[in-house]
Amino acid sequence: MLNQDLGRGRGVYISTYGCQMNTNDTERMLALLEMMNFVPVESPDRASLIIINSCSVREKPVHKVRSEVGHYKDWKAKNPDLRIGVGGCVAQQEKAKLLKDIPVLDFAFGTDAIDQLPEIVARAYESKEKQVSARFENDKPYSIETMVRNPGVAAFVNITKGCDNFCTFCVVPFTRGRERSRSLKELVTDIKSLVARGVREVTLIGQNVNSYKSECGTDFANLMRTLAEETDIQRIRYTTSHPKDFNQELVDISAKYRSKICDYIHLPAQSGNTEVLRRMNRGYSREEYLDKVAMIRQGIPGVVLSTDIIVGFPGETEAQFEDTRSLLETVRYENIYAFKYSPRPFTKAARYTDQVPESDSKRRLQILLDRQREIAFELGEPYSGQTYDVLFEVKAQIPDQIQGRTTHNKLVYAVGPDSLIGQTRRVHVTKAFPNVLHGEILNQNAGALL
Ligand code: 5AD
Ligand code: SF4
Repeated sequence: MLNQDLGRGRGVYISTYGCQMNTNDTERMLALLEMMNFVPVESPDRASLIIINSCSVREKPVHKVRSEVGHYKDWKAKNPDLRIGVGGCVAQQEKAKLLKDIPVLDFAFGTDAIDQLPEIVARAYESKEKQVSARFENDKPYSIETMVRNPGVAAFVNITKGCDNFCTFCVVPFTRGRERSRSLKELVTDIKSLVARGVREVTLIGQNVNSYKSECGTDFANLMRTLAEETDIQRIRYTTSHPKDFNQELVDISAKYRSKICDYIHLPAQSGNTEVLRRMNRGYSREEYLDKVAMIRQGIPGVVLSTDIIVGFPGETEAQFEDTRSLLETVRYENIYAFKYSPRPFTKAARYTDQVPESDSKRRLQILLDRQREIAFELGEPYSGQTYDVLFEVKAQIPDQIQGRTTHNKLVYAVGPDSLIGQTRRVHVTKAFPNVLHGEILNQNAGALL
């Protein structure tokens, strides 16, 4: 029997690396541990239980875990009650090997083992044996309830887990397993209950949200339609969508329910060169990607786009890199997340023999970032003087100000009372920076706008 009181008098600290999936997983871990009366603490030196929720998508992930654990190593001698564990993708990838390599660790649990955390932690306290739980639950339907302890205005909701795309650079299919979708019914119920708890905006998350397929045959476009029609959620965002699965139907539904479905789409290109895309196994050419962009912009005028780019993918020539550079000029994204390629275990590209020298990747990355800074500046200017609906989410760090976002995911600061948090107001933009807008609330005393 699980000791539900195991956490009494014990603090828990979780450090989180990586994507929104991990952020959401951390929240779930904390919710589960709070049920055992563990108390979340702000710094690791006050904790009896330390968990590192790791990411292995890029660059030296095991090294990062090792160096963080290095800080805690000596604490164990002083505090025999301290238990240290690793979750997330590194744990999934390394399994028992991680515990062998870093002896101070007590347990490791994979991405599909989060709901077993209470048992794993209990065993870590009750037995001297190291605990490893890293099996994929590929055969079970993906069914969970979103766990948020104190939901704010915006919440993340997992709609799929895993990925079947096997892009040749990416470790995710190996660390998150096969793609599974939650049922439509479960998602509607989940989001209705979040709305009842005060949530106004959800971001649907998954490695590849638009390949969502519920067992009743519903696809992503239909999921969006259903959520827009059957729930009172005010705003729906999603990330990450895959260009190959972005279809006209999704564009049409986004246009039809524009008041709810936000005008911001993260559409990872990874490269602007067709041959590189082929070697990445992305499932589209440069032209097909640009056709998707044109389809989206035609159906949803004013939509804001962002992307992910990898430079220095094995075999990438200067000319091929130039195609990526020109993609930025053609699409003019408001934001890019650009990375140097890093070889990942198990992946096909790690075995490609034509790895690009670090110095070339570094230079190419800098070229993209420098140019993108200029583009973002140019695109940011026209926001000044315009008026937008802003859903206010939290108090800002700046005194007397609150912060929220436009439908385009632009961060907005304005002077206003805390009572407007959770409400939507018209805001006149007085100053526009590439990533932040400052504005004045026009209808402060108006009733909540939808
Ligand atoms: N090297 C560099 N970047 C990578 N990404 C994923 N795998 C790698 C890798 N091996 C980037 C991709 C992806 C984002 C989440 O991380 O751009 O879209
Ligand atoms: Fe990785 Fe490609 Fe799946 Fe995205 S779609 S998680 S990049 S394999």
